[in-house]
Amino acid sequence: FFFPVSSGNPDETVARDIEGNEIKKEDFIKTRKPGTRELVQGPKGDPHYLIISEDGELRPYSLDAVCTHLGCVVPWEAGENQFICHCHGSHYDSTGKVVRGPAPLSLALAHVDVNENGNIVLKTWKEKDFRTDSDPWWK
Ligand code: FES
Repeated sequence: FFFPVSSGNPDETVARDIEGNEIKKEDFIKTRKPGTRELVQGPKGDPHYLIISEDGELRPYSLDAVCTHLGCVVPWEAGENQFICHCHGSHYDSTGKVVRGPAPLSLALAHVDVNENGNIVLKTWKEKDFRTDSDPWWK
C-alpha cells in the first residue's frame, strides 16, 4: 500500500519508487532495459506502470495497475505481451486496453512528464482515451 504524496497541484503527482524516493527520469531510463514496465506510486496512491519503449524512450503515459474488475494489481506478462490479472483472468494489451473480461474497462491513463528537478511526475489525463477514442472513465 502506498500513501499519496501531493506536489501541491492536485492534478500532478511526483512518481515515487517502492521506498518513497522521487525518480529522476535520466536515471530511470539509463538503468532499465527497453520494454520495461515498472510499478511506481502514482496519483491517488495507486500503483502505476512506467513504460520504457523498445526504442529506449519513456512513454508519455503511465497505466494505473488497478484492475477495472475488482481492483487487483495487474501484473505485466512479458512473454504474452499483455497485462493479465491473476484474480479472474482479465487481459489488457500492451497499452492497457482491455481485450478480455470480466474487466469492463481499460486501465486508467496518466500523463508522464518531468518537473524542474528532472523528476518524473504523473498528471491527470483529462483528454480522450487514445485507445478507445472515448472520454476517460476515470475523470
Ligand atoms: Fe482483475 Fe477480477 S480483479 S479480473
